[in-house]
Amino acid sequence: MGPVMPLIDIGDLQLSNSKGAKQTELFKAIREKIVEQLWPIGGKLPSTRKLAEELSLSRNTVTNTYEQLVAEGYIESRAGSGFYVCIELPEAYLPAPIAHSAQQSSIPPYNNDGAFASGVPDLNLFPIKKWQRLLQQHSSRVHLLGSQHIQGSIELRSALSDYLATSRSVVCNPSRIIITSGAQQALSIALMATLSPSDSILMEQPGYTQMSKIINLLGSNFIAAPVVPKLGLDIDLVLQSNAKALYITPSNQYPLGTSLDTKQRLSLIEWAVQGNSWIIEDDYDSEFQFAHRPYTSMQGLAGQMGRDEHVIYVGSFSKVMFNSLRLGYLVVPESLISKCLTIKDAITGDSPAHVQAALADFIREGDLIRHVRKMRRLYKLKHQAMIDAIKLHLPSSLEVVSQAAGMHITLKWHGSIDEQDLVDAAQKVGLNIRPMSYYEHNKNIERDWNAVILGFGNVSMDDIPQDIARLASLFHC
Ligand SMILES: Cc1ncc(COP(=O)(O)O)c(C=O)c1O
Repeated sequence: MGPVMPLIDIGDLQLSNSKGAKQTELFKAIREKIVEQLWPIGGKLPSTRKLAEELSLSRNTVTNTYEQLVAEGYIESRAGSGFYVCIELPEAYLPAPIAHSAQQSSIPPYNNDGAFASGVPDLNLFPIKKWQRLLQQHSSRVHLLGSQHIQGSIELRSALSDYLATSRSVVCNPSRIIITSGAQQALSIALMATLSPSDSILMEQPGYTQMSKIINLLGSNFIAAPVVPKLGLDIDLVLQSNAKALYITPSNQYPLGTSLDTKQRLSLIEWAVQGNSWIIEDDYDSEFQFAHRPYTSMQGLAGQMGRDEHVIYVGSFSKVMFNSLRLGYLVVPESLISKCLTIKDAITGDSPAHVQAALADFIREGDLIRHVRKMRRLYKLKHQAMIDAIKLHLPSSLEVVSQAAGMHITLKWHGSIDEQDLVDAAQKVGLNIRPMSYYEHNKNIERDWNAVILGFGNVSMDDIPQDIARLASLFHC
């Protein structure tokens, strides 16, 4: 005879008061108990009759729920004996190994695009069939097989120019747009075109790590422009600086999620004009603002006053479409076009032709705007689901400091749990979160607070509560 398994106490099993189907409610309630290891692995569940009585449900509801739990691998049915919590749970739902390392049997694989990966949009909802059709249509066009215009296809630049004018109030025309390999290449070109070796560049701190890498590579003189959680960029420091350029994410600071208001934007534009400096505006995810209408881009604001001569606008298709597309763009003043093209020619040459042609159609036929609108609604819901789950599961000492925008949430706390330790522990349970230190150019910065960044673009709505609960379990151990 095998060991006697503990009988599960269902005393605190509760169904929510929602009007949802009882079977779904019961399924979720039991699954939560199991994945959070509130019920022992191998434990015996009450009989369907007993549970139905206890919860005033029909026996059918309970039987169907148990069958669903069996089908999804949370419990197993042993003939003539009853139902038991599975020893090995479905991988994606495994609880934290730190809290229960003795019981851990396998670990969900770490996934670059998986739960809380930063900067990854919802990949499952991209209209892939339409995209495939467009790529296919253009793949038979012989003239696209040869070398192309270094600046990017005129069809794409025209379509993009209209899109940017309407969606981001960018003041441009196709001749001022340069298609690049992601924002990454756009930022590299912008730096090479504006800085001489001894010049200084101000960059938000914490800030976009990929930009730090470019500054390091080019050997430019880095000056930190501090960004404070919730308060934003230290504008006064910038206004007093005679740096040659300022790199900035004004609509949704990456990673702290603050934004600059119109007055601040105007003062920075004035700073650039007066000091003959450059503003490099990275507008990577500004389509996704949930609390209010998006601010006009700095480039647009400057352009409306005829003062965009010092603003370089950088955009990306990584967030509004998908990361591996590797397409981005620069909108530059007339004076910089030729220099930027010389640099692009030297470092990569032209950009892939078929993909540009497909993208031009995707924009012209309204698919991009439709997709962006759909994703804005979805990310707003996901953002709310994240906030709700954080409130429910995480200690109240943790604070969400980022605004309701984009595809990430920044969580800050004071106290003994070190952010890097949390990130390491999260990685072991398949959660891909980033520590604030990842975004700090100067790793010796003294901080009396910890923070992590949680991307929610590519997490499914249904998984948000359990993934946050999994993260929460790391705080409690
Ligand atoms: C601040 C910022 N800028 C730009 C990008 C997009 O870069 P790319 O177009 O090279 O993928 C990202 C993506 O994570 C980002 O976080």
